[in-house]
Amino acid sequence: MKKNFPMFVFSCMTAVVLLICIYRSLPQEDAAGGTPEIADAVSGAENVQTDVAWETSVTADVTLGMALTADAAAEAEKTDAALAVDATPETKETETETAWETEIARTTKAEWENETEWDETRRVALTFDDGPHPVYTVKLLDGLAERGVQATFFVIGENIPGNEEIIVRMNQEGHLIGNHTYDHVKITDLSVEEACEQVEKTSALVKEITGKDTEYVRPPFGSWRKDLECSFEMIPVLWDVDPLDWTTCNVSDVVRRVLEAVEPDDIILLHDYYESSVDAALLIVDALTEQGYTFVTVDELILE
Ligand code: NI
Repeated sequence: MKKNFPMFVFSCMTAVVLLICIYRSLPQEDAAGGTPEIADAVSGAENVQTDVAWETSVTADVTLGMALTADAAAEAEKTDAALAVDATPETKETETETAWETEIARTTKAEWENETEWDETRRVALTFDDGPHPVYTVKLLDGLAERGVQATFFVIGENIPGNEEIIVRMNQEGHLIGNHTYDHVKITDLSVEEACEQVEKTSALVKEITGKDTEYVRPPFGSWRKDLECSFEMIPVLWDVDPLDWTTCNVSDVVRRVLEAVEPDDIILLHDYYESSVDAALLIVDALTEQGYTFVTVDELILE
């Protein structure tokens, strides 16, 4: 018994400690169990507060988030209010987003339509009279080839002998070769027979080189007679823009005159017989390309 006494005391103390622990734990359970709604409300309010704070940070409604307190009833009301307020900006945001998307779609469509219209209508035809010139026409062909641009050349028959290679090149590189009479005469001063001879002689020279007649004729001085009935169909081609390039050696003046006057579907008149005109022509190509123009040969404008 004496040996077991310390063990007995230890067991008693352990039992007392356990009882105290159990006793102390009981009132806490009772207290919490007595106000379950408040506890849930507080914990719920905390969650809501977090939610609202998050939402207010999203919607930038800081005032409502700061106003929240620990009072469960107030929390619930304010939460409802906050959610109600939150709903409005979110709806507005959605509406705005939809409107924005619609606006984007509309802008893109407008741009697309605009670009399509550009592709279809912003065309222009460069025409060159009085060549071929052994130096300047070659320089022009080089410049046009670099830029991938086609033009129309109204050649003078008497300038062809010795420059056959230039005619070959014009044909091979996709340019249209037109007729500017044999020795640059005013057709209206001639008889029908003489006028026909002027264009037929030039056309025969071109056909010998390219295999094709010249269907398009630019009458020198713009003088055309409608009663002309030659051995092949001839379509007279005048012009819309005439910078009078042969009156000046100033390249800038020629460029400016053309750019000030040009409109979609215009035919521009220049002469590849002058170096300044050739230099101006290439600058005009670059400027009009920047403006969205594409270059076509006159048949593409006239036959539509
Ligand atoms: Ni001429």
